[in-house]
Amino acid sequence: MTHFSYKNKQLHAEAVALADIATKFGTPCYVYSKTALVSAFNSFSEALKKRGHLICYAVKANSNLAILNLFARMGSGFDIVSGGELKRVMAARGDPRKVVFSGVGKKAEEMSAALEANIMCFNVESEGELLRLNEVAGKIGKKAPFSLRINPDVDPKTHPYIATGLKENKFGVDYADALALYRKAQSLPHIEVTGIDCHIGSQLTEIAPFIDSLERILALLDKLEKVGIAISHIDIGGGLGIRYRDETPPNIAEYAAALFAKLGKRRQKILIEPGRAMVGHAGVLLTRVEYLKHNRGNNFAIVDAAMNDLQRPALYGAYHEILPVSQSSRPRRTYEIAGPVCESADFIGRGRKLGLAEGDLLAVMSTGAYGMSMSSNYNTRPRAAEVIVDDDKTTLIRRRETTDQLFSGETLLS
Ligand code: LLP
Repeated sequence: MTHFSYKNKQLHAEAVALADIATKFGTPCYVYSKTALVSAFNSFSEALKKRGHLICYAVKANSNLAILNLFARMGSGFDIVSGGELKRVMAARGDPRKVVFSGVGKKAEEMSAALEANIMCFNVESEGELLRLNEVAGKIGKKAPFSLRINPDVDPKTHPYIATGLKENKFGVDYADALALYRKAQSLPHIEVTGIDCHIGSQLTEIAPFIDSLERILALLDKLEKVGIAISHIDIGGGLGIRYRDETPPNIAEYAAALFAKLGKRRQKILIEPGRAMVGHAGVLLTRVEYLKHNRGNNFAIVDAAMNDLQRPALYGAYHEILPVSQSSRPRRTYEIAGPVCESADFIGRGRKLGLAEGDLLAVMSTGAYGMSMSSNYNTRPRAAEVIVDDDKTTLIRRRETTDQLFSGETLLS
């Protein structure tokens, strides 16, 4: 169910008209539905409840403190990929003992910070990282909880930029090397082997690749147990896709049921790292049409949101539905919806049939995941404001950046 719908021809977030949000907070502006966030978390919880599990929300999908805090209050754990994300989780009052730390390039100082915070586990992605983790933990006098991220070499059938579990990707360790690395880990004095991990990619719309990679992980787990290496949790990563246009991803319950069927009677705790499926549909990007222009038969609607606010169309050719905030009976034309940034890749949508006038508001749908979190200041554009709607209540959860903030760390040469 969507939490963004028309009432009297006006698009609303829950009970609040998006036009009122634009008037109050300006555009571009990300607007989230609290109910959508809560219900996504509850769907995962409900689907996983038959087993000991921990949902580790992938912070990178949307790292606003209010959203992290909302999930933390619901009992969520977190998947982080940097010291910065750890700080965010702590600032949002997340429980560090429910944090897993993924990523191929962890720096020593990020490892120490995570060890000091007593995180649940490091998802280690190389032998070099294992050795460094052992050394850093030794210096602090702690044992680092360790899980190895396996690259199962499974095709997730998604956009090549967001596939991570193929052998040509930089992520994880080769399946064939995993057993030797576990033996090594077990021999190190400051490492405590706890888990096994994989994450094969994002925006997966089929169940089969998840199952294929889980099968490989379980085969490895059996081998580990045979040689006396005990594993207490299986982290199956994130990656469950959502419907942006006409995709038909499995729903959360189907996905969980298929995983559980494969897991059978195993006793390990299940960790899952969903990002997109938790926040994607919960957000829209609100933008205003600045100009309509017509060049050699092409119609452009130049809006005040750009590729710096939402990179997905430029980077992956991603599709996001674009809806008028106010429904009208104006004749429709086919538009490219483009931003003010000086790049031809700066488009939000192409070939969209809309009846537009300058000053209209548009809502770019399903932008709650990898929207704001991937935004930049390119063209010295302050990043957008973020607002959460809860029924008829609206809260600003991130002020619009000011231009002065953008260069406050810069200096002139003397
Ligand atoms: N765990 C790890 C280790 C990851 O690298 C990711 C995403 C996730 C979990 C969460 O995956 P999700 O459930 O959100 O699919 N910027 C791209 C997506 C990049 C995903 C990176 N890793 C996009 O906008 O489509």
